[in-house]
Amino acid sequence: MVEFTLPRNSQVKKGRHFPASENVKNKKVLQIYRWNPEDGENPRLDTFEIDLDNCGPMVLDALIKIKNEIDSTLTFRRSCREGICGSCSMNIDGTNTLACLKPLNEVTDIGKIYPLPHMEVVKDLIPDLTLAYAQYASIKPWLQSETIPEENAERLQSEEARAELDGLWECILCFCCSTSCPSYWWNGDKYLGPATLLQAYRWIVDSRDDATGERLDNLEDPFRLYRCHTIMNCAKTCPKGLNPGKAIGEIKKKMVERRS
Ligand code: SF4
Ligand code: SF4
Ligand code: FES
Repeated sequence: MVEFTLPRNSQVKKGRHFPASENVKNKKVLQIYRWNPEDGENPRLDTFEIDLDNCGPMVLDALIKIKNEIDSTLTFRRSCREGICGSCSMNIDGTNTLACLKPLNEVTDIGKIYPLPHMEVVKDLIPDLTLAYAQYASIKPWLQSETIPEENAERLQSEEARAELDGLWECILCFCCSTSCPSYWWNGDKYLGPATLLQAYRWIVDSRDDATGERLDNLEDPFRLYRCHTIMNCAKTCPKGLNPGKAIGEIKKKMVERRS
C-alpha cells in the first residue's frame, strides 16, 4: 500500500499557550497557525485565551488585541476592517472568510485560524498571492476601448447594461473562492481560478469595453478556463455572497455562442 508522509518541516506542532488571567469570566480560545520562515522551525498552533469583555466583536478585533497585548510577532494582513479591502481573508474553523466580517460569537469554543489553504505561506496567516495577482494581471483588468470619450465626459451605460455588472463589481479580490476550489488546488499554476475568472467576466460583459473577442481568446484554453468543474465551493465560501461559478458558466456560454 502506498504510504504518504508530509515533508518533515510541514508538520504542525503544538505551540505556546497564553492563558487569560484568572479573573476573566468571559473568554474565547483561539488556536492560531504560526510559521516563521526565518527560525527554521516547524509550523505550530499557538493557543490564545481572549477576554471577550475587553475585545471588539470580530475575529479581526481578537487578532489585533493579541498583537497589541499578547504577542506582537503575530503576523496577518488587514486594512479596512469592514469587508472592503479583501486583505484579512483566512481560514476560520475550516471556512475561508474575512476576519473582519466573522463575529467571534460564531467561532467554535476552540476556534482554529489558519492562512488561506493551498498557498505558499509568507509568515503566520499571510499567504503568498504573487501567482494569484499575476493571473489577475493576465486578464487585463481595465477598460479597453477603441473610442475616445468627449473631454470631461463620462462613458455612459444604459441601466440594463450597468445591471449586467451587478454581482461582479462587488468582488474585493480576497481569493477566498480560489483557495477553496479543488481545481485551483491541483492546477493553480495553469487554471486561473474563480476570483480571476469572475473578474474576467466583469470586463467581458461591460458594454463600454471593446476587447471582448481578445478577452475570450485569452481564456480559450483547456486549463485557464475549462478546469472549472462546477463544484461550486467558490460560491459557498464567498464572504460577499457572489457566485464565481455562475460567472464562469457565463463565459463558457459566450465561448459556445461565438462558435455558432
Ligand atoms: S465552480 Fe468552478 S471555480 Fe467554483 S469551486 Fe467549483 S471548480 Fe472551482
Ligand atoms: S468572488 Fe468573492 S471570494 Fe472570490 S475574490 Fe471576489 S469577493 Fe473574494
Ligand atoms: S480588513 Fe479589509 S476586508 Fe477585512
